[in-house]
Amino acid sequence: NQILFVASECTPFVKTGGLADVVGSLPQVLNQTDQVEVRVILPLYQEVIRNWYEQLEWVASIFVPVGWRNQEADIFTLQHQGVVYYFIGNEYYFSRQGTYGYYDDGERFVFFSRAVIDALDHFDFNPTIIHGHDWQAGLALAFAKILKPQKQLQTVFTIHNIKYQGIMPVDAFDELFNISRDHIGGLEWNGLLNCMKAGIFHADKITTVSPTYAEEIKTPYYGEGLYPLLNEKEDQLVGIINGIDENEYDPMTDDYIVHNYKFSRAKKKENKIALQEKLGLPVDGNVPLYVMVTRMVEQKGLHLVQAILDEFLEKDVQFVLLGTGEYEFENFFYHAANRHKEKLVAYLGFDEGLARQLYAASDFFVMPSLFEPCGLSQLIALKYRSVPIVRETGGLKDTVTPYNKHEGTGNGFSFTNYNAHDLLHVLNYSFDLYHDKEQWHCLLKNINKSQFSWKDSAKEYVNLYETMNQSSLVSKY
Ligand code: GLC
Repeated sequence: NQILFVASECTPFVKTGGLADVVGSLPQVLNQTDQVEVRVILPLYQEVIRNWYEQLEWVASIFVPVGWRNQEADIFTLQHQGVVYYFIGNEYYFSRQGTYGYYDDGERFVFFSRAVIDALDHFDFNPTIIHGHDWQAGLALAFAKILKPQKQLQTVFTIHNIKYQGIMPVDAFDELFNISRDHIGGLEWNGLLNCMKAGIFHADKITTVSPTYAEEIKTPYYGEGLYPLLNEKEDQLVGIINGIDENEYDPMTDDYIVHNYKFSRAKKKENKIALQEKLGLPVDGNVPLYVMVTRMVEQKGLHLVQAILDEFLEKDVQFVLLGTGEYEFENFFYHAANRHKEKLVAYLGFDEGLARQLYAASDFFVMPSLFEPCGLSQLIALKYRSVPIVRETGGLKDTVTPYNKHEGTGNGFSFTNYNAHDLLHVLNYSFDLYHDKEQWHCLLKNINKSQFSWKDSAKEYVNLYETMNQSSLVSKY
C-alpha cells in the first residue's frame, strides 16, 4: 500500500504550526508498521534549500501549465529517518522568505498541486492513495481525480484547521486552471474558488484531527461556512486524534531543559527555579507557575486571558507567556508584563529551547482555545507533567478530562463556555488544588498515566487505507 502525503509544511524542514509536527511524525510511525509505505511531497521553500542543500538529489524537471504559461517544476528528493521526501521547486513561486501569506498564494498552490500530480509519472513509487493536508493540498486531490482518472487514485483529505480555506476570486479558474469548466462546481463555494472545499469535495475519505472536532465542523458555529458540505459527506468523515513524537518530546532526554526527569516533582521544582533565575522572576520553588506557549491569535483564547489576567495575578502565582502573533495581543501582554513585573513575563518571540523549559518548569499549562482541532501543546504539557487547563473543544476535550476531587479521576482542568469568568473560576480552582497536598498528588498520578503516542492513531489510519483499497478493488469488478 503506497501513499503520498501532500502538505505545505513538515518538521524538520519547515514549520509554522502543529500541521508541520503531524506531517513530520505520522509518516515515520506509519512506515514502521510495515503495512504501508508513506512518502511526503512538499514545496521547496528557500529555507529548505538553505538548510538541506547537501542532501537534496534532483529527480526530474517538468513543465506544469499554469494559465497560459508553462512553469518549470524541479523535483528533488531526500531521505530522512525512514521516510522519502519529495520537493517541488520553482524559483518564482517558492524561493521566497517564509511559507505563505503572499498575495498570490492561490496561484502558488495551484502550481504546487498540479505539479504534484504531474510528478507522479516521474517517481519510482506508485501511490494508490493521495493523502492531502489542509487547504494547500486540496487542489492536489482535485487534480488527481480530474487529470488522472485512468489511475483510479483514491484520496484522503485531512482537515487540520477549517478556518483557513485558500480562497480566490472565480476569475482565477480561467486564468490558472487549464481544466474544463465542467469541473468548477467541485472547486467553487459561495461564489469564490475555495481550496479547502476542493479537497473535501474530491476526497473519498475525510479525516480531521480529533473526534470532537469532526462533530463540531458539521455545525455552523465551527464549520466556517463549509458545514453543509461536511454534513452531506458525513459518512466519509472521521476524527482521528493526533499523537506526539515521544522521542522528540521527552523530559528524560530533552537537551533543552536544565534538569531531566521522568516523574520527579523535585526535579520539576529545580527546573522552575532555573527558569525563574533566567527570566528574573522572584525565586520560589513553591509558587504555582502557569504558562502559555502559543501562537498569539484569537483561536487560542487570548481574549479570555486578557479579560481576567489582572484579577488572577492578585493571587500568589507566576505566569509566563511565550509566543508571537497579532499586534493586539502582543501589545496587551507587553504592557501587562510591565504592570506585574514580579509575576508575569511575556516573551514575545519564538524560542524552542525556552518553550521546552516552560513545559518542564511549569505546574500548569493554560490553553483556553476558542476552537482547537486537536492541539499538540496540551499533549506535550502532559508528557512534561504540567497540568493542562483547557476549554472543552475539539482535541482538548478528547485528551483532557477534568479532575474530579470526589472520585480522584481526571488529568487536568476544563470549562465549557467561551467565557472569561469560567476560565478564572477554573484557574482559581486549580490554585486551591495545588495547595491541597492529597488532591494534588492524586491529580499528578493521573497525569503520569496519560499517554499520547501515535501508535493507536496510526492503526486507525492503516485501517482506513485498507478499507479504501478493498473498496477500490471491488469497484474494478
Ligand atoms: C492545526 C490546529 C491544531 C492541530 C494541528 C495539527 O494547527 O490548529 O489544533 O493540533 O493543526 O493537526
